[in-house]
Amino acid sequence: MYRSHTCGELRVSHVGETVTLAGWVAKSRVMGSSMAFVDIRDRYGITQLAFNEAYSKELLEKASTLGREFVIQATGKVAERSAKNGQLETGDIEIVVESLTILNESKTPPFTIEAETDGGDDIRMQYRYLDLRRDVVRKNLELRHNLAQSIRAYLSNQQFLEVETPVLIKSTPEGARDFVVPSRMNKGQWYALPQSPQTFKQLLMVSGFDRYFQIVKCFRDEDLRADRQPEFTQIDCEMSFVEREDIIQTFEGMMKQLFADVKGITFGDFPRMSYADAMKYYGSDKPDIRFGMPFVELKAPGNSLDVVSGKDFVVFDNAEAVVGICATGAAVYTRKQIDALIEYVKRPQIGATGIIYCRVEADGSLKSSVDKFYDADALLKWKEAMNAQPGDLMLIMAGGLDKTRKQLNELRLFVGSDLGLRNPHDFKPLWVVDFPLLEWDEDHNRFHAMHHPFTSPLPEDRELMTYDPGKVRANAYDLVINGVEIGGGSIRIFDKQLQSEMFDLLGFTKEDAQYQFGFLMNAFEYGAPPHGGLALGFDRLCSMLGCSDSIRDFIAFPKNNSGRDVMIDAPSTLSAAQLKELEL
Ligand code: AMO
Repeated sequence: MYRSHTCGELRVSHVGETVTLAGWVAKSRVMGSSMAFVDIRDRYGITQLAFNEAYSKELLEKASTLGREFVIQATGKVAERSAKNGQLETGDIEIVVESLTILNESKTPPFTIEAETDGGDDIRMQYRYLDLRRDVVRKNLELRHNLAQSIRAYLSNQQFLEVETPVLIKSTPEGARDFVVPSRMNKGQWYALPQSPQTFKQLLMVSGFDRYFQIVKCFRDEDLRADRQPEFTQIDCEMSFVEREDIIQTFEGMMKQLFADVKGITFGDFPRMSYADAMKYYGSDKPDIRFGMPFVELKAPGNSLDVVSGKDFVVFDNAEAVVGICATGAAVYTRKQIDALIEYVKRPQIGATGIIYCRVEADGSLKSSVDKFYDADALLKWKEAMNAQPGDLMLIMAGGLDKTRKQLNELRLFVGSDLGLRNPHDFKPLWVVDFPLLEWDEDHNRFHAMHHPFTSPLPEDRELMTYDPGKVRANAYDLVINGVEIGGGSIRIFDKQLQSEMFDLLGFTKEDAQYQFGFLMNAFEYGAPPHGGLALGFDRLCSMLGCSDSIRDFIAFPKNNSGRDVMIDAPSTLSAAQLKELEL
């Protein structure tokens, strides 16, 4: 028996018992020549081992040879500590060691295995197995495990069956590039790794599985960011004989249970917002509604209200749209702070030309950056339109409508953070619904499916598909929390004719559609039920509940921003023999 207890388990109630612990040396302190303390760590906690000369000189000498991260086994008596450590769960006791075995030595680790480590990102990733010994990182993976358990329990209770789908498949269109794998046995042919199990889950509905789920790896070759990895995990789900409302209710229920189980937080019904409103009021299809500051259009195509034109200020006169936000309490911003906002939006990633601003002073008077063009009466109209109050700062951007909305979205989020309105412990879920079915691609002069080609139009927009496809809304929905797209899905097309029309609209020739999706179209000839589903990004969900921006912290062995695993050094080259065998 290597151990009788774990390193997180012993309390005052164990005093007097003889126990054996096994684990890693977290810290050792040799106190002169008469005493030594060694902290022994395992997944469950840390316990102090005490050695003293009076008890055994030999043991004390052995203890002083222990290096950090040595693997040891110690047997001794649990004793109450005279100086208790309130920081440690086991801080009331220590083990007076009677025998010590060094199970394995360790090189000095390249960084300290503590919450506040001295290791930079690169070195921690290279030695991820050591990084995973750190409490903070391990806790993230414990959270991930707990979430997975809670999800499985909820879905199983709701009659969902977990079914595995293949990884070596054919391209599934989710908008990214495929990772591909050459086939040795079928020379010149390639598998694609799934961007999602989309087509398989739809086939399972044709098979009558009724309710499917899978916690599944997906692969997408796309540019990486804090919330994107080339391989990531989805909670992928599909249901038959359902409408949008059924799906929203089912997964809203799941999210409520997860938050209650894991965070002890309860929610009322999640609000819903149309895509059109999300764009109009937040300039984003994933608005962060932890704070207000909705957009106000001071001038926009189709609006009768225009409180900015006709004052010889060409920037506004020439702009298609002039849109602002009212930053509550930000009139105190100094010139320097406002310049920082301007610099922020001028960065190439945002590409704005500037910001016009207007302070509402404490006495209600208005002071703008364009006082030359706008007198007090004119500025009052802005203030009324934006419902600005004394102490507020109006921040206004102008240009093409879509571009201005995007840029102002960035500014709103930046100001929201700056004003401390984006607390990661505050959770504000939102369903965004009624996305456009299609998106016009200027570069290639054709439509793309905004979600994927299997998404059905809203029944009331079905007719528009023939004469104004750009206006058709999709029967699709996204779950957004705190401005992060956690999941998305849709009611699917289950009619072969409609699916074929959709492929036509997307510019597939009949041959292409048959080549890529013939299997699905064929299946639809054998009694496909009405069905729909969604997929939640599991890594994103974990990082959201773990109050972090980075999904990497919640993945045991993540890739870096260049898509590399620096620990195993992948991707890497193949040997000449392997290449030859694959005829590459
Ligand atoms: P979608 O493409 O919206 O839908 O993906 C679902 C969710 O997966 C997460 N996600 C990612 N997470 C980390 N890294 C990535 N590279 C990444 N890409 C996506 C997001 C996203 O909301 N088959 C459809 C679902 C359906 O229609 O049922 C699909 O894959 O949180």
